[in-house]
Amino acid sequence: MSGQTDLRRDGASSSESTRGRWQNRMTDILGSTYPIIQGAMRMITLGEMAAAVSNCGGFGQVAASGLSNDKLRAELKRAQELTDRPVGVNIPIYRPNAFDALEIAIEMGVKTVTTSAGNPAKMMERIREAGLRVVHKVSNESMAMKAQTAGVDAVVVTGFEAGGHIGRNDVSTLCMVPQIADAVDIPVVAAGGIGDARGLVAAFALGAEAVEIGTRFVATSECAVPTFFKERVCLASSDETFILGKKEMPIRVLRNKATETVEKMGEEEADEFLKQSGDSSYVTEGGNRENATMPCGQSVGVVKQVMGLEQVFVELVEQAVCISERLGNLFGGGER
Ligand SMILES: Cc1cc2nc3c(=O)[nH]c(=O)nc-3n(C[C@H](O)[C@H](O)[C@H](O)COP(=O)(O)O)c2cc1C
Repeated sequence: MSGQTDLRRDGASSSESTRGRWQNRMTDILGSTYPIIQGAMRMITLGEMAAAVSNCGGFGQVAASGLSNDKLRAELKRAQELTDRPVGVNIPIYRPNAFDALEIAIEMGVKTVTTSAGNPAKMMERIREAGLRVVHKVSNESMAMKAQTAGVDAVVVTGFEAGGHIGRNDVSTLCMVPQIADAVDIPVVAAGGIGDARGLVAAFALGAEAVEIGTRFVATSECAVPTFFKERVCLASSDETFILGKKEMPIRVLRNKATETVEKMGEEEADEFLKQSGDSSYVTEGGNRENATMPCGQSVGVVKQVMGLEQVFVELVEQAVCISERLGNLFGGGER
């Protein structure tokens, strides 16, 4: 297995026992060592990032959004050259080339796709025919129920804290995950606000069977965003994000001069600004910390340092074990 990182605390060469402990319904669906999904990020999480995450034992995925069919094929090929671990593709269903992206995923041997921003029922027939697994992103209970009825394998529940596009209902991960975990039979993945092992363990306590992480992964050596973006992520506190495009497609970003201007606008004018500024400005040349759109979640407050992905995974996994032991002692230990 190329580049598979061993995350055992004793540093021994085999990761079998660690893997055994972390296996659940989600690792079965994803084919990953850990139930940790790298959130798709438009024009950022391409082949190299996806492969790097999968090599750490997580589930890396290429964001199809904004890519031509040839570029998506090339990025998947790149990922598959860099890892023999499963890598997924995120397909925003409302985009005109969503079905092309699905066909490319099938052609390239992808086993699990994630879908977002649309009704997954449209794609289920083809997904099942091709034998793929599918995890669909939702932001409220009724969307989760519809996705389950459509036949998806799991849902990612995105809370209001998350970086990037969020739902319109202002409900936190803390409240939405247990509600949806109670409502559906399929596994729930928690997304939004998970910046370290404390958030990961909390998500599992809420009933999630995996986590999806975006903001923490922005501040990694492997993430293809400009240095000024990573620096802002390391310095910002949780109250330094702002929701752009409240009416059309709300997106949580870091506050800067550009968002200050938008804050003074009415909702319609703000939506128009968002459309015109385009959502790729943070990866193109010429952007800077004051004029770029930098999607970012409230978990930014616990992200203090740019690290290699391997170190992020080591910390997530090792600290989750320590926290669980501490909580086990607190709740389960001692005399009654
Ligand atoms: C820079 C950035 C770009 C993102 N772009 C997308 C995207 O294109 N499509 C999508 O479905 N989610 C996108 N997201 C959301 C992530 O996939 C993930 O669900 C979210 O970041 C999880 O919340 P967290 O940021 O609190 O970890 C983005 C997030 C960030 C931080």
